[in-house]
Amino acid sequence: MTVPLIERFRDRLPVSRSTPVVSLGEGSTPLLRADRLADAVGIRELWLKWEASNPTGSYKDRGMTVAVSKALEQGAEAVLCASTGNTAGSAAAYAARAGLPALVRTPHGAVAGAKLAQSRMLGATVLEVEGSFDDALRAAQELADRGSHVLVNSLNPHRREGQKTAVLEIVEELGGAPDAFVLPYGGGGNTSSYAQALTELGLETPLVSVEAADRRETLATAIRIGDPVHAASVRAAGARVLEAGDDELVRAWRALAEEEGLFCEPSSAAGLVAVLRGDVDGDRLVVTITGHGLKDPAVADRLAPPPTLVVADPDAIAEAGAAGRRKQERTA
Ligand code: F0G
Repeated sequence: MTVPLIERFRDRLPVSRSTPVVSLGEGSTPLLRADRLADAVGIRELWLKWEASNPTGSYKDRGMTVAVSKALEQGAEAVLCASTGNTAGSAAAYAARAGLPALVRTPHGAVAGAKLAQSRMLGATVLEVEGSFDDALRAAQELADRGSHVLVNSLNPHRREGQKTAVLEIVEELGGAPDAFVLPYGGGGNTSSYAQALTELGLETPLVSVEAADRRETLATAIRIGDPVHAASVRAAGARVLEAGDDELVRAWRALAEEEGLFCEPSSAAGLVAVLRGDVDGDRLVVTITGHGLKDPAVADRLAPPPTLVVADPDAIAEAGAAGRRKQERTA
């Protein structure tokens, strides 16, 4: 039977026997060795924490199971978040599971369609904001301050408690700390959570957080955040913050797909940019891949090779396949 994240890490989370556990089978995600990319960079071990295999397709579920369980325990009437899409999908799913209404605020025109469809299908009320994610978050915070809705953004400490479990899993599975943890940096909630886990474990492993060079305009809409709300705690944690340009993001994102078979969303490849550039010291690195490619297929649709139309004839199919292989060899 699937072990809920809250049960696996009960002794490290703020829950008691009377906390209702709202779970969709989150956490315990694959830690995959990526030898081809490791060879390309010239390091001994590169590990990918594949957070896309969480129930709603992103790492948010780790925090959401704790936040929504605690909201239910506290008698919340509803949950509320601002989101570039993934928090929304996760909040919608866990709220539905808990039998609570979910209200999600998203920046109009800046959220991948599949993420909106996910939230809508899961019964959340989706309210678009004429403005940025930062505007949406401010408004959500103000409403939450009135008391009827529990904010389930990463400002909610229960979210961060849940998200720290990725580090616990990695350290447990590797039998110790890697030389560095590398992850994308949007609002910084996940970096803060990782830092919290390291403190609790008594580890001083370097954290490398990679943000979009152009925060307000990046094609990686999941991390299109102007003012990271956790900037101060990211600094206090001593995380090294690096930038990735959109062209670099796309290259890393494609490399992950073509070299290792992992289709993530563009924002999720941010950490890999720093590793591929050789900016991260160490011979055993862990890169967190935060969300699934199927959540944001528009960029893939624009950039990946189009399908070839062939007649239903075995020779024509074989010839088209051979042409594809020749093209691959030329670009290798
Ligand atoms: N990767 C993905 C796939 C995300 O959706 C986000 C943030 C991040 C990375 C950045 O993580 O904010 O903890 O530094 N998504 C939020 C959302 C903003 O609303 O879904 P962070």
